[in-house]
Amino acid sequence: MRIGVLASGSGTNLQAILDADLPVVVVVADRRRAGALDRAEQAGVTTAVVDRSEYLPDRLAFTEAVVDALGDHDVDLVAMAGFMTILEKPIFDAFEGRVLNTHPSLLPAFRGAHAVEDALEAGVRVTGCTIHVAIPEVDAGPILAQEAVDIRDGDTAESIHERIKEVERRLYPEVLARVVADGDVRVGERNRDRRAGSGGS
Ligand code: GRF
Repeated sequence: MRIGVLASGSGTNLQAILDADLPVVVVVADRRRAGALDRAEQAGVTTAVVDRSEYLPDRLAFTEAVVDALGDHDVDLVAMAGFMTILEKPIFDAFEGRVLNTHPSLLPAFRGAHAVEDALEAGVRVTGCTIHVAIPEVDAGPILAQEAVDIRDGDTAESIHERIKEVERRLYPEVLARVVADGDVRVGERNRDRRAGSGGS
């Protein structure tokens, strides 16, 4: 399998994926200043930038450019790892059932780009992370793995997010390794029909 990772941020999840020796052939970022690009270069992995500022508000054209960048490297599994631009239908058509994402909440709770802040605001005592198949509806695709993280007295969004990310950095590479070993994304029977529609945040 050939994995393409999509990232926007510091890239600590990407680092965990690289450290797990998964077959990453390209890292695509949506902005030029992304720590993930430095990490990829350090690991000798090819990078590509599809700068969203050159496309937005045309997310369709942006998505098509991302699909092209992945296609240039014969990617067959896409791993979103902190990719902060919502993607449109073309990527879910090109890689049907093969776009994965990690999200910092126990989905279906707290979808969207502010999941940790929203959990803190809601006063829940437990949140966590979810590895799921991304579909056109953001943070709504079939769930592959989840793990809970406690919210403690005195926590801030930053302290909670850091504990969640520690879990993501273990869980996401585990899930990807399983997919690589299986040669396909295997969604459990109970989750198979839960497809309201899509992407990640
Ligand atoms: C992760 O918590 C991911 O779930 C969220 O963004 C964060 C990315 O962190 N969407 P990093 O760039 O991998 O350090």
